[in-house]
Amino acid sequence: MTTFPLFLPCAGGVEAYLLEEVARICGPSATDVRAARGGVQLRAGWAEVMRLNLHSRLAQRVLLQLAHVPYRGEDDLYAAASAVPWEEWFTPRESFKIELTAHQSPLKSLNFAALRIKDAVADRFRNRGGVRPDVDTQRPAVRVFAHLDADSITLYIDTSGEPLFKRGWREDKGEAPLKETLAAAMLAASGWDTTVPLYDPCCGSGTIVIEAAQVACNIAPGLLRRFGFERLRPHVAAEWAALKSQAQQARRAPAAPIFGSDVAFRMVDFAQRNAERAGVADAVQLRGGDALQRMPPLETPGVMLLNPPYGERIEAGGIARPGRGGREQAQMEQAGDFFTQLASHWKRNYAGWTAWVLSPDAKLPGRMRLKESRRVPMWNGPLECRLFRFDMVAGSARARDAAGS
Ligand SMILES: C[S@@+](CC[C@H](N)C(=O)[O-])C[C@H]1O[C@@H](n2cnc3c(N)ncnc32)[C@H](O)[C@@H]1O
Repeated sequence: MTTFPLFLPCAGGVEAYLLEEVARICGPSATDVRAARGGVQLRAGWAEVMRLNLHSRLAQRVLLQLAHVPYRGEDDLYAAASAVPWEEWFTPRESFKIELTAHQSPLKSLNFAALRIKDAVADRFRNRGGVRPDVDTQRPAVRVFAHLDADSITLYIDTSGEPLFKRGWREDKGEAPLKETLAAAMLAASGWDTTVPLYDPCCGSGTIVIEAAQVACNIAPGLLRRFGFERLRPHVAAEWAALKSQAQQARRAPAAPIFGSDVAFRMVDFAQRNAERAGVADAVQLRGGDALQRMPPLETPGVMLLNPPYGERIEAGGIARPGRGGREQAQMEQAGDFFTQLASHWKRNYAGWTAWVLSPDAKLPGRMRLKESRRVPMWNGPLECRLFRFDMVAGSARARDAAGS
């Protein structure tokens, strides 16, 4: 069986979880699986390319490496891209686009570098069959990824198309929706194993609860969308259909309930509609309500997982809403106040629960007057965040409150 070197990029901090996920999805069919900076590398066949695209919750895309060679200037980039047999991967009827990234490249213009690579791909088609494929920068059928480091170029053909965080169910977004891949990373880092109830008290458009519900129901994240590999020459429609139908039959009932609530009823509506599209409306229970007032959704303790409103991204509503005048100052104070109030609400009412909170604020535990039991670094786009774990110990808050602390 032919195997290919693959690279699955992911958000910083997620590599170790993606490594485990890749091993779970591919089993022994993948070899040389290792975490690299910003992703995971492996060797595997075309069936695993399809499988990874369909099942990965953490990867941003699945790239198939076609060249890795040294370069000094733009001419070397042209030569490297000319030597790749692109005609084995797509026909000139498909439009394409070059996506270039660079880290410590000495080249002055990355635009010019991308142009040379684009010319090399198009010229190779023209030199062989007389037809150049069109370039489409908006909706290309095929994406070629080129990565330049200080002295080598790596060329990949992308097998995913739209990035994998686009699961195909989101039409209604809130103001600061989490990427689905980051929600999945939070779930992975929390070690939530689907047998314990899960609750997001600031659920917004529902990303965390929907990801969790799909995991609990064993619904593959890619079942609702198309992939780049469907436009590539090795694609065999019958094999893909068989893989999808196998995944569709794997759905199971969730072992534990999943809850979401948000102070904004409009958000709860969004989350409900998203959950319906994601096929998990029967696995999640969504409500309106202020996180500072909502009582636990059930008596047995579970896990809370949330990215709460935070300063510049989105302000807190409900009883902690800022008043008029000096808005920025009010927001800062109110953010502190929101978290202090949230912590005392949890201490009083959520004994036995574990709360995982994603925040860009390294001082969050101090603001909440809680000591975290874990702190996992994670990037939310350009924002460096941490996922804090707080264990709400039964009885301690009441005892402390009674002592007047
Ligand atoms: C950063 S967003 C969460 C985004 C969500 N994870 C998603 O993917 O859409 C924070 C959410 O907290 C909600 N929120 C603000 N104050 C709240 C409060 N007091 N109680 C509950 N939710 C609140 C906002 O309406 C917003 O939807």
